[in-house]
Amino acid sequence: MNIVRPESMERIVTKELAEAFIAEQVEEIRQQVKDKKVLLALSGGVDSSVVAALLIKAVGKQLVCVHVNHGLMRKGESEQVIEVFRNQLDANLVYVDATDRFLDLLKDVAEPEKKRKIIGGEFIKVFDEEASKLEGISFLAQGTIYPDILESDGVKAHHNVGGLPEDMQFELVEPLKLLYKDEVRVVGKALGLPASMVDRQPFPGPGLGVRCLGAITRDRLNALREADAILREEFDICGLSATVWQYFIAVPDFKSVGVRNDKRYEGWPAIIRAVNTTDAMTATIEEIPYDVLHKITNRITSEVEGINRVLLDLTPKPVGTIEWE
Ligand code: XMP
Repeated sequence: MNIVRPESMERIVTKELAEAFIAEQVEEIRQQVKDKKVLLALSGGVDSSVVAALLIKAVGKQLVCVHVNHGLMRKGESEQVIEVFRNQLDANLVYVDATDRFLDLLKDVAEPEKKRKIIGGEFIKVFDEEASKLEGISFLAQGTIYPDILESDGVKAHHNVGGLPEDMQFELVEPLKLLYKDEVRVVGKALGLPASMVDRQPFPGPGLGVRCLGAITRDRLNALREADAILREEFDICGLSATVWQYFIAVPDFKSVGVRNDKRYEGWPAIIRAVNTTDAMTATIEEIPYDVLHKITNRITSEVEGINRVLLDLTPKPVGTIEWE
């Protein structure tokens, strides 16, 4: 691939530079796309959201965004995609709730790599089906960023779910391909996207699927989603969300005995993991203050159906990976 290396480019660190980048890209996109239609798989992650906002600015309703909800999103994520893109930015958004398709296929599948394959494969299928229902699409937009190109043999490649079928006959539109993640965030803010969308922590393509350990069941997935929402809420309240690189809950598929309302209460443990890293190849543990841990534990064990213990993972990477699967 013949790419210009951006090391010599001026980095986008201010609103003014972001605005200049946006103006330049809008012009380029208009020249490339003309009056044709562009398709985009919009996960709601930072990169695809910023590409969507940029293309909406450049070509408006010629952009068709497809958001596939695989049922493994965090609490409120798909709703935010609909609110921001359909309601606020008036985008052409196709929302597909494919929860049942994914969860039915994943039923009784416990092996992590098999789960990933099913989620990735089904994602492509659903996206492909939606694409074939649309007429006159000439372009496919992608949120490729510079590290994706650099690391195309590295960490992200063996992981990525967003990979689309190679036989799709579209010309690519990749306006962010020379930017680093931090620059994408600056551009996203200049485009008016909410901070909760552009400052998000990394979230794996297979979503909560790799945190609902072993064979996924709907009730345990639900418990995980609720516990994760509480963790995120409490990290927002105490300010840790602004500094911790990645934090989440994992829920294993075994129960322990407990007591709730004076009765025996068997439940799953919720495991807190909060790590800091620069490149995700190694990671250290965030030292969460004990008062915060107590509050999170109280809330999760009293508010989340099915959880009766909260555990803290103190393992750096190596030897533990960031995710549990
Ligand atoms: P690990 O668990 O390998 O994770 O230490 C390193 C980083 O990659 C993310 N991750 C994934 N991202 N699809 C993704 O898009 C995946 O299957 C996947 N698995 C892990 C993980 O969240 C962490 O940020």
